[in-house]
Amino acid sequence: MSDKKTFYITTPIYYPSDNLHIGHAYTTVAADTMARYKKMRGFDTYFLTGSDEHGQKIQRRAHAAGKQPQEFVNEIIINFKHLWRVLEIDNDDFIRTTDEHHIRICQELFQKIYDQGDIYKSEYTGWYCTDCETFFTELQVGEGHVCPDCGRAVETMKEESYFFRMNKYADRWLQFMTDNPDFIRPESRRNEMINFVRQGLEDLCVSRTTFDWGIPVPFDQKHVIYVWFDALINYISALKGQGDGSLYEKFWPADVHLVGKDIIRFHTIIWPIMLMALDLPLPECVLGHGWVLIDSDKMSKSKGNVIDPIYLCEKYGVEAVRYFLMREMGYGLDCNYSEELLGRRINNDLANDYGNLLSRTTGMIEKFQGSVIEPPVEPTEFDAELIAMAKAIPEKFGRLMDKMEWANALSELWKLVNKANKYIDDAAPWALNKAGQQGKLSSVLYNMAEVLRFVTIMAAPVMPGLPKRVWRQLGIAEQTQLHTWESLEWGRLPAGTKISRGEPLFPRIDLAALAAEAKPEAPEAPAAPAMEPIAPTCTIDDFARLDLRVVKVLACEKVANTDKLLKFTLELGTEQRTVLSGIAEFYQPDELLGKNLVLIANLQPVKIRGIESQGMLLSAMEGKKLRVIEAPDMPSGAKIS
Ligand code: ME8
Ligand code: MG
Repeated sequence: MSDKKTFYITTPIYYPSDNLHIGHAYTTVAADTMARYKKMRGFDTYFLTGSDEHGQKIQRRAHAAGKQPQEFVNEIIINFKHLWRVLEIDNDDFIRTTDEHHIRICQELFQKIYDQGDIYKSEYTGWYCTDCETFFTELQVGEGHVCPDCGRAVETMKEESYFFRMNKYADRWLQFMTDNPDFIRPESRRNEMINFVRQGLEDLCVSRTTFDWGIPVPFDQKHVIYVWFDALINYISALKGQGDGSLYEKFWPADVHLVGKDIIRFHTIIWPIMLMALDLPLPECVLGHGWVLIDSDKMSKSKGNVIDPIYLCEKYGVEAVRYFLMREMGYGLDCNYSEELLGRRINNDLANDYGNLLSRTTGMIEKFQGSVIEPPVEPTEFDAELIAMAKAIPEKFGRLMDKMEWANALSELWKLVNKANKYIDDAAPWALNKAGQQGKLSSVLYNMAEVLRFVTIMAAPVMPGLPKRVWRQLGIAEQTQLHTWESLEWGRLPAGTKISRGEPLFPRIDLAALAAEAKPEAPEAPAAPAMEPIAPTCTIDDFARLDLRVVKVLACEKVANTDKLLKFTLELGTEQRTVLSGIAEFYQPDELLGKNLVLIANLQPVKIRGIESQGMLLSAMEGKKLRVIEAPDMPSGAKIS
């Protein structure tokens, strides 16, 4: 057996759906980026994705479409695989929960837990959300009987079921989380899960009898296994069920289960406890990422705001779409999508910063040096700083990538791109050429090309289609030893290389045209409601008495026993403030994490429910809609006037 380090990363397995959107694409692109990065760092990687095909929801949808469930899912899975190809997803396996080997392993493990007495028969009475395939208690669904996760109506359920003794493992789970503080990431999620378990764990209903589209309970064919129990097993059955078992030996436990924040509870509570019951090692970590939002709102088919990733890839190119997703979503935070935001990223980061660096470099090497990269013979006064920065980036970038802080890693890398563009302006190769300073000129052009090589290697996991186009332009397409992470040693680019200038990689997006394109829809929008009348009662002095500041949300939680109040911890320059705001019906506590908002900072503090609130957050309200005011690119503490 080789002693190569291994890395096993998974995405959730997706429900068959004919409208996978860019939110789904995010999870898969992020996992793919991570797998490619680890591979580049010399790890033996295994990247698993797949589909979650059983359950009541699928059975109902199949029937509605007049199809057998198997036939129904088979058709959808073709589209999944196509989407992942378009997005350049390089997964090692695609597991379907209808695969024979998955069914076999799932039944084996269910049987094992039953045999040892951790699964028992009883009766379930309670509520079920078919859309989330989740059980809820009376307390959780409230008087309105709606799903606390998705808001849809829940159904009552009373049936004979098998139960999994989750409660028995609660203490062991809590101990594990104490011993492994990095298991649940980010930390805010970890605290949430620990609080949840501390309140007491109920045994989990793990079988159903009222429909049959599922894996039969091996010892009681009237029952099918609960779809989440079935689904979570995929991470193991994919390895164990195939070949001679060596995949399992090699890759389990997983290094990362990457999941969206809606399914963290399943992955950090139910799954670890299943593994504990099975006496199997737990994964290294579960990373819960945020939502891709549209206009600060969740994407959904019913709202008609679902964005098709294939359309975006066709219009803007897959590299740009992947870059946008990885750059835009901060660690553990939500991000916004709009075509304009995507267009701006393309124009700023890709066309201006990176694209310009490439076209300036190849353009000047062509013009001043007959397309040949000359050796760096005579440094300019600007070289040392650029080179020092370039040398330091791989370590910084690598550290952030290892922590899966992809947006920060890219932002660090782009500092080098920007530095290089500034370097060109400072060193002014056109002036060196004019002055006949060939020695310095060749150094500047060499350094530009070498920075490009550095950046392109590091950007490759995010934009896998980029390097081959750049290597062609830089004239090093055949020299694969210069494309590797190990080759990130300054000065490896050989002098004498002949470049060949090409088309710009990232054409600029005409944002004005984009806005105009969106216009025709305007007439369909509902007429603006009558506005509240405005009376000119405020003097300029009145206004000057208000001290409005930009604040950054460091933490946010619901105030216990209230419906409306959120408690914010805010950064205000070097200070911290606690502020209560009655907006809990409009925002989930974590939705505003990391956002920059506007605070009336000089209001006299007031005590609400025993908590002192030091200021007031500004928001806009229209009918039943409320949005806080954001100040996106301003530092906290900045004064608003
Ligand atoms: O949950 N932004 O499958 P799924 C970011 N079958 N991520 C999003 C998103 C958005 N707008 N919308 C969805 C399931 N996702 C189960 C998983 S695993 C054993 C079983 C993410 O198709 C979502 O958070 O509903 C999840 O990580 C993934 O897409 C699949 O969601
Ligand atoms: Mg979902």
